[in-house]
Order: sequence, then structure tokens, then C-alpha cells
Amino acid sequence: MNVRQRMDFLIDEINKQDKLYYQKNAPIISDSQYDALVQELIALERENPDLIRKDSPTQKVSGNRSSTFAPIKHLAPMLSLDNTYSKDEVVSWYDRIVKNIEAKNIEVKNLDFVVEPKVDGLSLSLLYVDGKLSTAATRGDGEIGEDVTENAKTIKDIAQVLETRQPPSLFDIRGEVYMDKQTFESLNADLTDGQKKFANERNAASGSLRQKNVSITAHRNLKFFVHSFGKMESKKVLFSTHWDFLQYVKKCGFKLQENIKLFKNIDEILNFIDEMATKKDSLGYEIDGLVIKVNEFSLQNEIGYTNKSPKWAVAYKFAAKQAITKIISISVAVGRTGVVTPIANLEPVSLAGVTISHATLHNFEEIQRLNVNAGDEVLIERAGEVIPKIIKVVEKRSEDFFKPPQECPSCKSKLIKEKEEEVAYRCINPDCPAQFERHVLHFASKNALDIDGLGKAVVKNLIAKDKIKTLADIYKLGEKDFLEIELFKEKKASNLIEAIQKSKMRPLSKLIFAFGIRHVGQRASDTLADVFGNMDALIAASFEELIKIDEIGDVLALSLKEFFAQAQVIKMIETLKAAGLNMTQPRQNINSAKFLQKTFVLTGELEKWTRQQATEIIKSEGGKVVNSVSKNTDFVLAGKNAGSKLSKAKELNIKILTQEDFEKLL
Ligand code: IVH
Repeated sequence: MNVRQRMDFLIDEINKQDKLYYQKNAPIISDSQYDALVQELIALERENPDLIRKDSPTQKVSGNRSSTFAPIKHLAPMLSLDNTYSKDEVVSWYDRIVKNIEAKNIEVKNLDFVVEPKVDGLSLSLLYVDGKLSTAATRGDGEIGEDVTENAKTIKDIAQVLETRQPPSLFDIRGEVYMDKQTFESLNADLTDGQKKFANERNAASGSLRQKNVSITAHRNLKFFVHSFGKMESKKVLFSTHWDFLQYVKKCGFKLQENIKLFKNIDEILNFIDEMATKKDSLGYEIDGLVIKVNEFSLQNEIGYTNKSPKWAVAYKFAAKQAITKIISISVAVGRTGVVTPIANLEPVSLAGVTISHATLHNFEEIQRLNVNAGDEVLIERAGEVIPKIIKVVEKRSEDFFKPPQECPSCKSKLIKEKEEEVAYRCINPDCPAQFERHVLHFASKNALDIDGLGKAVVKNLIAKDKIKTLADIYKLGEKDFLEIELFKEKKASNLIEAIQKSKMRPLSKLIFAFGIRHVGQRASDTLADVFGNMDALIAASFEELIKIDEIGDVLALSLKEFFAQAQVIKMIETLKAAGLNMTQPRQNINSAKFLQKTFVLTGELEKWTRQQATEIIKSEGGKVVNSVSKNTDFVLAGKNAGSKLSKAKELNIKILTQEDFEKLL
């Protein structure tokens, strides 16, 4: 596709999405996906100005009228806002304003800003003639909107008459119609099975306002906040700043949003952005960002407008954590322990700056609960760095929900539930290639034998070519085996060989963990290695000996005994031994261990080490790391921004170490 074709494609796509959004109230992509399309088009147009099409959506305010309502021409165009997605972009906007003012040599008494939450609803223009509500119109295409006067009159927050003695003769008050979260939830819950649920609060507000049957609107509990005005004619000057305008409309009988603030400088604005980012989810209604506006009207006029938006205002949008996309297919992955997990393969969608193409479905009960299958449009959410999950189906396109497969997708053996009450289906074939692949990846992972470079693609390839059939085969691999893999150069192959060699020296605890024995995690592996000191002693340990150890219970002990009872396991261990793998745990030199029997708690952000590294250092010096502070804690190692654990330590008079103190002790 060349640039021209890409631009045409983007224009078609944006127009299609506009239609779904504005005319059908049924968008199928998220705001951030939509913004990404527009941003790409803007960037291409900037680089190729000669290719800009007159009918490009960037050349007009988006939003088309639907033919069901009478048209109303706005007295002044209803513009939109430029979006920013980072504090850096907000600072750039601010710098541009300052430069603009300086260049024009304007004397500025007050460069202050009003910051308001950006309510996620739809824009409405209310025209008051001599203080009486005359018409109400949606934004439409910015020039001409839809007449929704009768619908608007049912909204309690909208004043029918301005409660002031001498109202302006003409006053076009603009604001946002929205639906609060609680109303949205109960509206969707009340819809019967045949009725389509609203994807979000904004669509619900738009669909509820634009109803031919006004009594439906009246029952939808819509709300309204004022945010701006268009034309105003008045004998007296009533206000000369945005802040005073807001106070004036309040006197006229409108409610104002909470969390509207007046700021004198950019740093205060940036702090407020952080404050609202944490606060936004606790508000009763959805906001998708903040709007920052120059306060003085005289300055607003100097700074001016583009044909789409004012230059004196900007929207800061919070990073989206949710997005809507389509499930292309559902596949089933086999884990290391044989448990099969359903995974949704998605049409790629951008979410908080990352492209997402997979989401977890947890298990087959979850699939049934969500009533989800390939083809459905779904809402996905990503919390932190974890793999995103599917929250709900927003548009059911498939007949039924996805059913668990009868057999393992890898080795075709029959899948079973180990116990009737268990949710998980498992493949119990010990030779299953998919499970083996996961075993190898676990064996090579950072916290196990740490073989850098032995990743998924390489392992898949080696298994497919029958180069590794047991874990021990890893140590039989030579450079030649790697060079057969596509894109593998000599350097990469020799690095991998070196990493494999190095892994032989890892302590016993890592090797135990690397085996991936059921229920045996890192902590238990450390304990077992410390207690038994070498592999043979561990293999020989009886069930009774095992359960005598603190932290080792029946389930774990049984699992260990079952593992070592397998002939092929013992054979693999012998092969590893022969290949030169270390089978012992280094003993602490009691005299030199600096933190012998000392208990540490880590808190805050450490800069010099990861948590894992700090823990290993402490353990190598005979100490241990626990999660919570108690009177038995000896030291709290506190990094930056430490919180409640640090306060607790102070309260209990526990020795607190800075990172520098810790280093000195070492
Ligand atoms: S000021 C020139 N303030 O966001 C536009 N708009 O993306 C002046 N919105 O069309 C609007 N909350 O519908 C303003 N506090 C707020 C807002 C707000 C929501 C909407 C409004 C506008 C859209 C632009």
C-alpha cells in the first residue's frame, strides 16, 4: 500500500467509524483506536501536504447529522478540542501559548488557567432568548446540529428559565449531557434479552437524548454540566473570564462540576493531573480526561482558533485501560502442568500505548459465564503489566459460547478433569510436546537455570526437529544444531552455548526449581536445597523427613516423592550429572555471613538492585526476607517513596536502612 492508498484507507475507516458513532450510537472501536487512526492521518498529511483531500475528516469537525431530527444552525460553530496524551504534550501546549503571547508583545496581567474534568457525554447547545430556553441542539457537524429541544427540557439540570433579573437577550450556553455510572448500570441491567446493551455511558447518554419518544428520554435520568458558551448578547458586561462565566451560570440555576480549579502556573496543573488520575474512578460519572483553558477572554481572543478547535484550550486524556475489539478465534494453550487454558486471539487494538492481540479467558467456566465465542465484539481491560482480560461481550455475533475441546491440541490425548469439582481440564500425557516445550522454557527461565537466548522460537524449533526430547538433551546441543535454525548467526549460537555452559554452575536450589515439580516453587526449592545440600540426599529423603521441615507440607512432600519415583526422572538426573551440572548447594560460611538469621523487609523503590537481586544478596549472607513488618523484623531496607511499611517500622522502632546504609553493611 502506498502513502496515497493508506490515506484513502484511513479516511474511509474514519468515516465509517464516525457513522457508527454519531448516527448509530454503536461504535465498534475504542476512543483510543479512533484517535490512533486520526493521528496517523494527520501525520501523513503533515508529511505530504499535496495529498490532503478536501473531504478529509481532518478538514472538518467530525460528527454527522442523523436525518431523524430537524436541523438547527448554530449561531457560532461548535468546535472540538485538541487532545494530548502526556504531561509533556501539555507542557508543549503551554510553551506555545507563552511564546504566542510574547511574540505579539501582549502585556499579560494574569496568565491563569481553569482546569475542568472532561465529562464523557455529548455536547449540547442551549439557546436562551431573554432568559427563556428556546432551542436545544446537538453538535452535529459543528455547523448544523439536531433539534432535541423537547428532549432537553426533560433534563432536571437544564434551567428552563435563567434565574437572574436581567438575563442576556441571547445566550447560547453549552455543556455536556451525560449519564452517571449508577444509572448506566441499572439501565443496562433492565434491558431485556432482546435489547442491545449500551457499550458505555456516552453511548447511553447519546441514545437516550436522541429519542423520538420524549418520555423515554425523561425516564433515563440524564444530567448536564455547563462547560462553555457560544454567542452572547447583553447590554451589560457580565463576565470577562471563564471562571466568572462559570460563577454566573451557577447564579442562573445551573450546577457546576466539582473539581474545577483555577491555577496560576503549569506545575500546579501537572500536579492536578496526577491528583485527578487517581481520583477519577471514584467520581459518580465517567470522565476521560481534563480540559485546560486560558481564563481571560481577552487572551483567548489573542491566542485564537484553528478551524477545528480553540488554541487557548486543550484536552488531556487519561490513558485508556479498556478497549473494544473483536475476537478472531479462540485457541487453547497447554501449560507446563498440562492444564489447558483458553486464549482469545483479538483484532489488534491499542490500549494504554501497547498493541494488544491476545487476552486470557482463564478457564471454560469463565467462557460460559461471559457467553463468549469467536466473532463477538468484546470489552477488554488491562490492569498493570498483566495479560489483558475480557470483561464482557458488547456485541454478540456468534451463536453459542466456546466449548472445551475433548482432546489436547498438541498430543491429541483425551483431556480430563482430575476431580469433578475442579474447573481445569488437563492433558495428563507425560510425553505431550506442548507441555514439554513449557517445561524447557521454565527450565531455562531467569529464576531457574537462566539460559539466556533459549526462548520460545528456539525451543519450538529444537523440539520439532527432535533435537531435545528430555531436559538433559539441552546439554548435548552443539553449535551446529543452532546454526540450522533460521536467522541464527555464529555469534548468537556461541552466546547461547556459553549461556548453557554457565547454567551448569547454578546452585541446587535453582535446579530443583527448574524441574517444575508440581507445588514446588522458588521458596520451597531454596529450603530443600539448604536442608539437604545435595541432590542425592533430596532424592533419598522419606516423606516423614520431608514433612518435618518447616514450610513443607503433605501435598508438597507427596508431589516430590511422586516426582523422584519416576525412572525417567532419575535417568535424566544421572545424565545431567554426567553433563557436569552442579548438584550441590553452597554452604554458608557461618563466620562470614553478614546477616545470619536476620529478617529483612523490603519497601519502596530500590534503585541499585531489583527486589529479586536484593533478596538474593540477603539470602546469600544468611538472612531472610519476609513481606510484612513485625516486632521480629531486624531491618527494613527502604527505597524511594516507601509507604506504610516504613511507617510501621518507625512505630515499632525497627532499624531502617537506606540503600546506602545497606551497601556499607555489605
Ligand atoms: S470546553 C471548543 N470543557 O469535549 C470546545 N468541553 O473533545 C469547548 N467536553 O466538544 C468545550 N467536558 O463536548 C469543554 N469541561 C469541558 C468538557 C468538554 C467535556 C466535551 C465537549 C467538547 C468535547 C471536545
